[in-house]
Amino acid sequence: MEDSKYMVAVIGAGPAGLYASRKLAEGGARVVMFNRDVKPGGLAEYGIYPDKLKMKQGLRAQFKNILANPHIDYFGNVTVCCGGNIVLEDILDSGFQVVLITTGAQGTKWLRLPGENLPGVYHAKNLVYHYNLLPPFSAKKYLLGKRVAVVGAGNVMMDIAHYLVRDRKAEEVIAVVRRGPAEVKFTKKEMETIAANLDLDTLDAEFSRFTPVMQNAGQDPVVARSAFTDALPKALPRVSETRFRFEFLASPVRVMGDWMNGVTGLKVEENTLVASDGVVKARGTGNTRVIEADTIVFAIGDTVDKDFCVPVFNDSYMTVKEPRFPVGGLSFEAFNPDTNQPIERVFLAGWARQASTGLVGYARRDGEMAADAVLQYLQSQPPMRDLDNVVDKFIERLMETHQRVVDKAHLEKLEQAERAEAQTLGAEEFKFTTNDEMFTAMGY
Ligand SMILES: Cc1cc2nc3c(=O)[nH]c(=O)nc-3n(C[C@H](O)[C@H](O)[C@H](O)COP(=O)(O)OP(=O)(O)OC[C@H]3O[C@@H](n4cnc5c(N)ncnc54)[C@H](O)[C@@H]3O)c2cc1C
Ligand SMILES: NC(=O)c1ccc[n+]([C@@H]2O[C@H](COP(=O)([O-])OP(=O)(O)OC[C@H]3O[C@@H](n4cnc5c(N)ncnc54)[C@H](OP(=O)(O)O)[C@@H]3O)[C@@H](O)[C@H]2O)c1
Repeated sequence: MEDSKYMVAVIGAGPAGLYASRKLAEGGARVVMFNRDVKPGGLAEYGIYPDKLKMKQGLRAQFKNILANPHIDYFGNVTVCCGGNIVLEDILDSGFQVVLITTGAQGTKWLRLPGENLPGVYHAKNLVYHYNLLPPFSAKKYLLGKRVAVVGAGNVMMDIAHYLVRDRKAEEVIAVVRRGPAEVKFTKKEMETIAANLDLDTLDAEFSRFTPVMQNAGQDPVVARSAFTDALPKALPRVSETRFRFEFLASPVRVMGDWMNGVTGLKVEENTLVASDGVVKARGTGNTRVIEADTIVFAIGDTVDKDFCVPVFNDSYMTVKEPRFPVGGLSFEAFNPDTNQPIERVFLAGWARQASTGLVGYARRDGEMAADAVLQYLQSQPPMRDLDNVVDKFIERLMETHQRVVDKAHLEKLEQAERAEAQTLGAEEFKFTTNDEMFTAMGY
């Protein structure tokens, strides 16, 4: 194995961290990855809808290939944070020249509405982790009722609606959208999964109701309607009687209900559309109404983990405005607004740098660009001496002081055990649902 010149820690083994690690290793770095989850992959493993098995298996194969690089070490079941298994400063003080943070958007975006913490109110990420079998969410009970309001109009809303329509077979799923039909963000491909359940009568009633508002904002309702109906020719066959419908121009203001009876509805303020400088915004009218529902799911994007010791702005970790090591005009260097200075040796990529933004391809590109920024920085530094010895000592200490650290050999055993279970069951794949089962399979 060729000697490495640099020593980098990557925190988070989702797509951004994995593709960044590959680029860093190719650029001469010895990379040590720390990952909260036992398995690598982040949302590619625990976010992408389970039935996209081919896509998931393709990504798993790529990640496996990346981790086979001898210049990259992997340590799963290790949460880096303030006061966690291991803290950021420990890593920086142990000889790593750079820490690249690719922890994704793990925090919850609360709207601070009255009733938001009633039983029956959920945030999409937790449900997504649940049905994708990420411990501990896999083992939690999510009491989903008959009539579920899902707030948001992105692909995560569509994934949640898909789950409710095809797997949970709810009676009614209502997408609550704060702007109009022309501002929905989901793709036709995702709509195809549940278009067969789309209630076209209520959709048309909504369009008639909002035609003047849309026209005032310079929009063509006929064009906007195609975002919904273009999916019909290739809609997946219907497997439930669920009625899937939309309520547009509605911003949540209160979750109705109480602790005895749970959720009874979502109070919304009705909006109108205002176009200014090419952007169409929602403006409240002051009128409110209640959408009846017994479960509310917020699918409005996530925020980064605010307890992670890196300052946050607009749901993402802060980067310096004028980067010293820009790539593609972007900044990957963490910023401390108190000192108005970069946080030395700390870089960011993926959803940690831009929460809830883009597909796996975006995270990959972002990770690779961040790796280029890190390599620029490293090239400006004196070479590291005795690097392998420093890394080996760090790993030795980690293994001694932390329980059940999962390395590449453990991952191999886990993969074999899950493959064997799948074969026994005659299933396309099998996933253990608790960390304990995974540890047993790994020989812990
Ligand atoms: C519901 C959903 C469905 C999606 N479906 C698709 C799809 O079909 N196709 C597509 O292309 N894209 C899809 N995406 C988008 C895609 O998953 C993301 O773009 C991508 O995963 C972001 O990568 P990331 O590495 O920045 O973050 P993540 O994938 O979130 O990875 C973060 C990693 O950091 C680790 N971590 C977190 N905190 C810590 C810590 N403190 N210490 C150590 N490790 C930590 C986590 O364990 C995780 O492994 C979907 C996203 C969601 C939310
Ligand atoms: N199958 C897939 O390929 C797939 C699946 C899931 C996710 N993803 C990707 O992952 C990324 C994140 O997806 P996402 O759905 O979380 O985000 P998103 O696409 O940004 O959608 C978020 C939705 O929530 C709404 N919203 C935000 N704040 C709100 C508030 N305070 N009140 C009411 N509504 C609010 C937004 O409305 P406004 O538009 O008005 O802001 C928008 O409709 C996207 O890039 C997405 O494409 C892809």
